[in-house]
Amino acid sequence: MCGIVAYLGQKNAQPILIEGLKRLEYRGYDSSGIALLGDAEVTITKSVGRISALEEKVGVDVSAATLGIGHTRWATHGAANTINAHPHVDYTGKITLVHNGIIENYATLKKWLESKSVEFASETDTEVVANLIGYFYSHGNSRNGTKVPASGNKFEWAVQEALNELVGSYGLAIICSDYPDTLIGAKKGSPLILGVGEKEFIIASDASAIVEHMTQAIYLSDNEMVIANRDGFKTKTIDNIAVSKSLKEIEFSLDAIELAGYEHYMQKEIAEQPEALATCMKGRIDLKSNRVVLGGLQNHLRKLASTKRIILTACGTAWHAGLVGEFLFEQLARIPAEVEYASEFRYRNPVINDGTIVIAISQSGETADTLAAIEQAKERGALVIGAVNVVGSTIARTTDAGVYLRAGPEIGVASTKAFTAQVAVLTMLAIELGRRRHLSNEYAGELLREMVQLPDKVGLILKQSDHIKEIAKANIDRDNWLFLGRGLNYPVALEGALKLKEISYIHAEGMPAAEMKHGPIALITDGMPAVFIATRCSQYEKIIGNIEQVRSRGGKTIVVATEGDENIKQYADYLITVPDTDEKLQPILNVIPLQILAYHAAVLRGHDVDKPRNLAKSVTVE
Ligand code: AGP
Ligand code: GLU
Repeated sequence: MCGIVAYLGQKNAQPILIEGLKRLEYRGYDSSGIALLGDAEVTITKSVGRISALEEKVGVDVSAATLGIGHTRWATHGAANTINAHPHVDYTGKITLVHNGIIENYATLKKWLESKSVEFASETDTEVVANLIGYFYSHGNSRNGTKVPASGNKFEWAVQEALNELVGSYGLAIICSDYPDTLIGAKKGSPLILGVGEKEFIIASDASAIVEHMTQAIYLSDNEMVIANRDGFKTKTIDNIAVSKSLKEIEFSLDAIELAGYEHYMQKEIAEQPEALATCMKGRIDLKSNRVVLGGLQNHLRKLASTKRIILTACGTAWHAGLVGEFLFEQLARIPAEVEYASEFRYRNPVINDGTIVIAISQSGETADTLAAIEQAKERGALVIGAVNVVGSTIARTTDAGVYLRAGPEIGVASTKAFTAQVAVLTMLAIELGRRRHLSNEYAGELLREMVQLPDKVGLILKQSDHIKEIAKANIDRDNWLFLGRGLNYPVALEGALKLKEISYIHAEGMPAAEMKHGPIALITDGMPAVFIATRCSQYEKIIGNIEQVRSRGGKTIVVATEGDENIKQYADYLITVPDTDEKLQPILNVIPLQILAYHAAVLRGHDVDKPRNLAKSVTVE
């Protein structure tokens, strides 16, 4: 979690850091701070809460400093207060740094430093890094006795020695008051990018803080550090081996990360789904041959089509997309598939037989649990495929092959357009694998022709936003909701419940509709909202039965049904209709009204939709 931004160049660093932090705020937002280095003196400003509070505190009195670092925190060690907020300064006052991640051996290192009479000011794991660098720097000696080389740069050496002591994950940006022309970055397990301009550099957790100023960047890999000075930069491993990195074009424009007239990013991203889906499918569906072309997977399709088992792994919303994928791989391609929570998979000593293929699904491409699951799978010899949105992200780079979602930047913490793109990618893959196995040319053609119509159909659902808002309003005082669906609508129910929970803080449970009678039905009280996803499908009659069970116990039914379904009206206290499509594709349409419902519920309850409490966009810690 958390956002890091650091600037070294010719311009005033302060506004670049504040603007950068605002763009990164979605990554973490409990406290923030900046440090500016001018005339060998570091000025630090920190604040609790949003970046706007920090901005107010630093004021408009723009410092002339052209080197600085900034941080927006998602606390892991120590409360969200100004002492624990970053940047952290070492005990000598020379080293200042910002950190994303967790230092797992911080207690051991802290004990060692304390035995050397080093005093700590905060409760964070991060301060250990600052003090360790400071200790090595001031003594010219590392913990294992290595001495600073006579001709070497002492700052760079001290950082490198300290990095070699750290267990855990870090993205770091570090400055030293004796080196007003040097900015050091380092990465292990947390993302870090170096934006490269004309004699200016920005180190950031993601490209959104860079793109306004520069269009080229290098992506650091784990155990690498970058040392930038005013004329250039070098990259090396933390073992002091030089590495050459190629410059990459940042692939999105500033427009893509602006609000563009919308009140919230979530609202914008829900509305962008027709375009995002169209871009996701563009050039990938061939209606002449009824085939799907996924460039990144071309060399692996034969292996995929003949595999005995597919494991999908992901977290949160991406896991729900994976559950849709599980159903589709089985139904369309008849390949045994199962979706696994990445956080569980990694610790379960999973059975990965020869020929198992693992598909990791992630919007950010940085989720720590998913990354760890990928490592497990790779260690055990599985081919690992990524379905990732953020280009150049760690998961995109660590998987053996992959398909980009092409949904464009997703900033709202609640994932919306990434979900529909994830489902679209998995559906395309399932159809192509099906075609290589038992799926008929005719049915594949039917599905693909339906798929290309989905963007327009999503557009029609978006028009019902006001109607859905009224439904949210009518039930806004209710603190417990159920979301129920069968078959492919079961993952949709889970996703609807998660959306409502995470942004409106209303307790919601998603479950297979038939499971309700095995326990949860006891929860139904008079007027309790139960959202049924009951579009026409093979289990239509069954779900009508489930709706009746809720109604007869006083529950209020909000039913998502197929346009033109007259029969369903009698069962719905509130009705939302979606266009008809093939049952296998229905999740992409059915989830849209649930996203809109959650959005309105959160706004009506007065919550910060894009930055829900306790959450952060990418969960880069365990
Ligand atoms: C969704 O709304 C969530 N904020 C969350 O569940 C998210 O989907 C999950 O953390 C996985 O993130 P990823 O797709 O970036 O890996
Ligand atoms: N572990 C650090 C802290 O709690 C960094 C957290 C973050 O990534 O924001 O301060």
